[in-house]
Amino acid sequence: MPRLFNSRVKNKCSPCNGIYILLLCFIFLVMVMQLQRENLEKKDILVAPPPPRIFCIIVTYEYRHEHAGIHILRTWAKHCDHFVFVSDDIDHFLEPAVFLHLHSRWERIRAHLEYVQGYHIHKGDWFLYANDDNFVVVENLREMLSTYSPNELVYFGCKLRTPNGLVFMHQGSGIVFSRAALEAFVLEALPNSSICSPVKIDSEATEELGRCLTNVNVLAGDSRDEWRGHRFLPFEVDLHLGGQMNKSQDHHKYYLDHSYYPVIDLSFPVSMQFICSHLEHIMDIYNLYYFTYKVRIFGGHQEVEQNTEDQEGRVFWNKKVAQS
Ligand SMILES: *[C@@H]1O[C@H](CO)[C@@H](O)[C@H](O)[C@H]1NC(C)=O
Ligand SMILES: *[C@@H]1O[C@H](CO)[C@@H](O)[C@H](O)[C@H]1NC(C)=O
Repeated sequence: MPRLFNSRVKNKCSPCNGIYILLLCFIFLVMVMQLQRENLEKKDILVAPPPPRIFCIIVTYEYRHEHAGIHILRTWAKHCDHFVFVSDDIDHFLEPAVFLHLHSRWERIRAHLEYVQGYHIHKGDWFLYANDDNFVVVENLREMLSTYSPNELVYFGCKLRTPNGLVFMHQGSGIVFSRAALEAFVLEALPNSSICSPVKIDSEATEELGRCLTNVNVLAGDSRDEWRGHRFLPFEVDLHLGGQMNKSQDHHKYYLDHSYYPVIDLSFPVSMQFICSHLEHIMDIYNLYYFTYKVRIFGGHQEVEQNTEDQEGRVFWNKKVAQS
């Protein structure tokens, strides 16, 4: 009589069933809470800030497409999150944004930055304005910028100043703008001729850029590392192996006359977190690229160059330090 048995069992165990159901409900509740916590934790990971996106603007010219621009395209450009070449003519490989009839450097800087602000601002947090003869380690730039917010009114480069105290960036070593700084330049400074000059300036283009940015409260940041080593270099890389500047060479004299930071013993301390420098010979770019991205140093005991500081705060570089 299975029916009877069933009903009897049912009747007999009804208080037990209640407890089981309560227990099941409790377990279910605990599981739901656990799942929710896991979800929250996952969400925390998802909302953690992504590394800053670098948008690179690479200035080139028609006569340099084949012997300079193309080598940038084949090397460091692809390390940027996005990049665009800007030029005075079209090109099959570089696919540049083309700007015609801009005869001074200042007009070009204005037009390039206006264009990028207008069409590409959503693609980057930071905007690197570089030349087709620069070598850039984009990863180190990203690393330096990770402690800043793209909403800060700040820009970086090789920092200089005029004798009357105007701060600006060296034009051959790359300049990087926060998104906020780029917006302030294009939307606030450019339209107003009392903030920013509309006239053609050539040799002092980055000085004028510095003046405009200062007028809209954009700070010239310190791009040196904790040992005061420079990350944006004004010269070719070989001088930075510990050589000295020579006052009778024009570009060294220019730097010595304009350096924002004091120069000690005609030397130029270079950071191990190098970001950008000028290339004298464009084909050196493949060697630099190879040594930067491919070469690993093997062998037990290594000596590395490291900057150190003495008690008076003077910085020494190229000092051999054994790596543990
Ligand atoms: C231009 O800038 C000056 C100085 O900051 C300011 O006094 C003036 O109102 C601005 N003009 C316009 C049209 O925004
Ligand atoms: C500095 O440069 C000048 C001109 O190029 C050269 O004659 C001189 O030997 C250089 N001095 C040093 C210390 O290298």
